[in-house]
Amino acid sequence: REKQIKSQFSVLEQANQFYQQQLRTSEQRQRAVDYLKQRGLTGQIAARFQVGYAPPGWDNLLTHLSSLDDAQSQLERTGLVIHNEERHRYYDRFRDRIMFPIRDMRGRTIGFGGRVLGDDKPKYLNSPETDTFHKGRELYGLYEARQHTGTLSRLLIVEGYMDVVSLAQHGITWSVATLGTATTASHLERLFKLVPEVIFCFDGDNAGRNAAKRALDTTLPVIKDGQQARFLFLPEGEDPDTLVRKEGEEAFTKRVAQALPLSEFFFKALSEDADLASMDGRARFSNQALPLIQSMQPSLLQQMMMDRICEITGLSLDQLNSVIDLHRATEP
Ligand code: UTP
Ligand code: MN
Ligand code: MN
Ligand code: MN
Ligand code: MN
Repeated sequence: REKQIKSQFSVLEQANQFYQQQLRTSEQRQRAVDYLKQRGLTGQIAARFQVGYAPPGWDNLLTHLSSLDDAQSQLERTGLVIHNEERHRYYDRFRDRIMFPIRDMRGRTIGFGGRVLGDDKPKYLNSPETDTFHKGRELYGLYEARQHTGTLSRLLIVEGYMDVVSLAQHGITWSVATLGTATTASHLERLFKLVPEVIFCFDGDNAGRNAAKRALDTTLPVIKDGQQARFLFLPEGEDPDTLVRKEGEEAFTKRVAQALPLSEFFFKALSEDADLASMDGRARFSNQALPLIQSMQPSLLQQMMMDRICEITGLSLDQLNSVIDLHRATEP
C-alpha cells in the first residue's frame, strides 16, 4: 500500500509535468496562453503555480503515460482518468482546460483543478477524493504561500484558484483557497498551526456571504486565545481576483486591515434577524447566540462575548448560566 501511494504521487507529478509542457508546446496552446494573458497573469506567476494546459482530446494523458506499468488503472486511481464501465473505455478526466496543480505542504502534487477556457459548465472540475487527495484537509496555494513569503503572519482564505493566483500576481502572496468545499475545522486547525491570524475573504455575492456565516460557525469551536479570525466582505459582484485587478495591492491591503473581527461579525450577523429594540427580539438573539458561544474553547474572547450578551439582555452571568443549564437539562 505504501508503495502504491508512492507511485500515485509519481503519476500525479508526471501528469503535472505533462500539462505544463502542453502549455508551452502543444499545437492548441495559443488559446490557453491568450486566456491566461487576458486574465492578467504573467508567465512568471503561471510558472510559480505550475499552471498547465490539458489539450482537447480524449486520451492525451493516457497516451503520454501509456508506458507506465498498468497505466490505465494507475491513472484511474489518481482520478486523472475515468473508466466507463459500459463501454470498457478509459478516457482523460481533464480535457481542454487550464490546469492548476494542487500541492500538499511538501510540494507534492496531489490533485488538480481544471478551468474551461470559456463559459462552458462546469466551469471548474476538480480531482475526486483519492488516497492522496482529501478536499476537506487541503488548501490550494498553501505550499506556494509558504515558499514565497518570508515569515507568514496571516493567511487570507478565498474561494477560488484564480483568486489565489491573481492576488499573488499583485504581490499578495499569502492567500489560500478551499477546494470548492466549505471551510472545515481541519482546514482551520492546519492554518492556525502556521499563523495566528486568518482572514476570510469570500466573493461579494449571496453564496460568499453564506459561506462566511458557515465559516463563522466552524471557527467558533476551534479558535483559541492568541488566535484571530476576521471577515472581509467585498463589494457586490466582486471577488478577490476582480477587485485586486481593479484596485491594486495597496487598496486591497487597506481593505484587509479593516476586516471585521470575529466577534463583531458574530453580533452583527445575529442582530440582523432579531429586533434588539424589543425584549422578545433580545431573547431570540440570546437564544441563538448562547449555544454558539458555548461551543467555543474556554477563552477570554468567550467570556467577553458572554458579557456582551449580559449587556444586551440586562441579565447577570449567573442568570444566563442557569438558563443554559435548564436548556441542557431539557434537551432530548
Ligand atoms: P466561483 O464560481 O466564484 O469562480 O467559484 P469564479 O470566480 O466565477 O471563477 P473565475 O474567476 O471565472 O475563474 C470559486 C471556486 O469554487 C470552485 C472552484 O474551486 C472555484 O475556484 N468551483 C466553482 C468548482 O469547484 N466548480 C464550479 O463549477 C465552480
Ligand atoms: Mn471494463
Ligand atoms: Mn462566486
Ligand atoms: Mn473569479
Ligand atoms: Mn469567484
